[in-house]
Amino acid sequence: MKNAKIVLGVSAGIAVYKAVEILRLLVKEGADVRVVMSANAGQFVTPLTFEALSGNPVYHTLFDSQNSADMEHIRVAENADLLVVAPATASMLGKMAHGLADDALSNLYLAFKGSVLIAPAMNEGMWGHPAVRENIGLLKSRGLEFVDPEYGELACGVTGPGRLADTSVILEKIRSFFNQRNDLNGMRFLVTAGPTHEPIDPVRYLSNPSSGKMGYAIAEQAKTRGGEVVLISGPTSLKPPSGVNFKPCKTADEMNSLVQECLQNCDVLIMSAAVGDFSPEKLEKEKIKKQGNEGLVLKLVPTKDILLEVAQRNLGKLVVGFAAETQNLVESALEKLKKKNLDLIVANDISAPGIGFQSDSNQVTIIDRDENIENLPLKPKRDIADLLLDRILSLLKSPEL
Ligand code: CTP
Repeated sequence: MKNAKIVLGVSAGIAVYKAVEILRLLVKEGADVRVVMSANAGQFVTPLTFEALSGNPVYHTLFDSQNSADMEHIRVAENADLLVVAPATASMLGKMAHGLADDALSNLYLAFKGSVLIAPAMNEGMWGHPAVRENIGLLKSRGLEFVDPEYGELACGVTGPGRLADTSVILEKIRSFFNQRNDLNGMRFLVTAGPTHEPIDPVRYLSNPSSGKMGYAIAEQAKTRGGEVVLISGPTSLKPPSGVNFKPCKTADEMNSLVQECLQNCDVLIMSAAVGDFSPEKLEKEKIKKQGNEGLVLKLVPTKDILLEVAQRNLGKLVVGFAAETQNLVESALEKLKKKNLDLIVANDISAPGIGFQSDSNQVTIIDRDENIENLPLKPKRDIADLLLDRILSLLKSPEL
């Protein structure tokens, strides 16, 4: 974990003393650790202990004039790769789930954009309470990772689930996060995302409800895992992930030009954009006016199929397509896989509720060239992105490619 940048968030439970051990071991393995404490964590172990062991100032109060002035917590949040909250109390989980920010740790959490690992510890009654279960479900659906507490004797005297996971288990989870991080080192990804806008006149266009979330998650995870990423995106309301080479576009035609231009310098193309299949034959220069009760007939012409063009150029890249279907999911996806000469296709049923275009989660089926079909369960888009990147990585390493 040499030079890994970690924020260790400590909230107020009896298990705070174990956070001291986690910090000591992380520092021993070469990590650069900043400690951030909740309002009451200092009742168990003083900030000074964490300061001495980390060699860094500890952020533990919101209203310290010196630290507040230079927005210390924002800077800490911006520079770290992973936030580990250990122990996470029921109260801290509630604040994180509902966006409350009334102390140093809950503030930092809201400002933090990287990955988050949570190790809860609490009384077994609290652990089983529906409010806590719901908060954990909410945080998991947003892609946060958990190391569940262990069963055993708790500080309150009872025996049950709630004891902070063993330090070695938490450490292993942190190590695997950083090991996975660099497995795409040296690989170049070209990712497309979002819808396209096909203009009708200066104020109207044809489009679809794609949010771009899936493609942005792929770009972000590929970057996080050490890949070099170009993200070509149609119009979305998302912020481009940091560190990716971002190329915005509007129309299918513009997206096609960008893809063909960038293709040479990539190893893998992932076409997750919902490219418009038709555009108006003619772009009206002025806004089309209503003509009484008369309807409007628009003549549409097909856009260029970007993937087909890529297949024709035959540059030997690994190519992944998406298939958004409302019926015959597998058959339609297989047909596209063959027609567009793809290495992998990711199919999703956009008619199913809770998945697809605007959602934070997705349920997809991945099909490869040999027609191996893998149905993945409903998962946050970031997890789907990671699983897809795992499949791409194993294909890149396979001798047949
Ligand atoms: N695609 C593309 N160029 C287009 C349209 C789609 O490269 N003009 C890509 C998409 O990015 C996706 C794949 O082709 O990776 C399949 O897109 P989809 O819209 O599901 O299928 P179409 O080929 O457009 O076929 P249909 O709309 O008839 O299902």
